[in-house]
Amino acid sequence: MRIIIFGCGIVGRSLLELLKVRKKELNISYGLAPKILGVVDSKGFAINTEGLNIDEILRIKDLGRSVGEMENYGKKGAFELEILENIEFDLLIDMTPTNIVNGEPALSLIKRAFSLKLNVITTNKGPLALAMPLLLELAKHNNVSFRFSGTVGGGTPLLDFAKKCLMGDKILAIRGILNGTTNYILTEMEKGKEFSEALREAQVKGFAEADPSLDIDGIDSASKLVILANWILGKKITLKDVKVQGIRDIRVKDLEDAKKKGKTIKLIASVNGEAKVEAETIPKDSNLAVSGSLNAVSFISQYAGEETIIGRGAGGKETASSVIRDMIEIRGLMG
Ligand SMILES: NC(=O)c1ccc[n+]([C@@H]2O[C@H](COP(=O)([O-])OP(=O)(O)OC[C@H]3O[C@@H](n4cnc5c(N)ncnc54)[C@H](OP(=O)(O)O)[C@@H]3O)[C@@H](O)[C@H]2O)c1
Repeated sequence: MRIIIFGCGIVGRSLLELLKVRKKELNISYGLAPKILGVVDSKGFAINTEGLNIDEILRIKDLGRSVGEMENYGKKGAFELEILENIEFDLLIDMTPTNIVNGEPALSLIKRAFSLKLNVITTNKGPLALAMPLLLELAKHNNVSFRFSGTVGGGTPLLDFAKKCLMGDKILAIRGILNGTTNYILTEMEKGKEFSEALREAQVKGFAEADPSLDIDGIDSASKLVILANWILGKKITLKDVKVQGIRDIRVKDLEDAKKKGKTIKLIASVNGEAKVEAETIPKDSNLAVSGSLNAVSFISQYAGEETIIGRGAGGKETASSVIRDMIEIRGLMG
């Protein structure tokens, strides 16, 4: 499987590390023998149609430098999408930063890949939140595979569970905690910490972004809800169709009052007809009353009833393992 990778940050590097340490096992167990023909970061790119050396890529990124500085194969400067037309390969993996305003650079990249009949994996919610119905249609039209397991739940296989394990049943509604940062903040506020202190702590622990407004205002949860709604329920919605409310107005007193009644407050993303993200007061013994930075999603289906998956919603290695899962699936479909 010949691959070009876009983005070599936390997730991209974790993927390369896993491909390196699991090389033998992935080949023996799944027939997965990836060859990295190209890697692109924000300042340059490196291409070798015979395959790049993973150690060399990791070494240069560990030094804080661009892959464009790699000996023999590197080139500094912006990657022009036209270059893709001159390389024969099977899979493009996008792990570039999420841009919720216009989805770029990933949106154009993915569209171009589809037009070149390339399979695509992305961990980036941006293009999906803004244009998922169109992207699914384009993938189908071009007869290529498009997978995005890492966009929801990090390494926790939420999308695969609902799509495959509940196949044969009919999923009627989805409810869940899809953002670890806000769940961490609400958990700490329940212990008496003020919002700003809990947020600062989440930032120090590396859960929250330096600009955490996407988490706190519910946009991150809404983006993941769009992905679940399209992929699992067959809805054709984008971010603008989700009613979104964040957790800025929640006070310690609200959590204390809820606690006295055996309840707690969680930022719940749900789709049951309407798609929305809002802080809800739920019973303490609810399946969704998970604490810390955990994610939890309940699928309510016609015959199996309610089933809940709980897991860590992010992390480099966790998300990279989702990418490997997608690679194995695409490898199987390629025959
Ligand atoms: N981290 C997680 O736990 C996690 C979990 C689930 C999903 N995700 C998603 O996965 C994606 C990657 O996350 P991350 O944490 O790895 O981000 P990150 O550490 O910020 O890495 C982003 C990478 O993209 C590169 N990049 C930026 N602009 C680019 C461009 N125009 N063309 C090509 N490469 C470009 C950066 O280059 P430089 O190296 O030159 O800066 C960097 O290598 C994001 O969309 C994120 O939302 C992350």
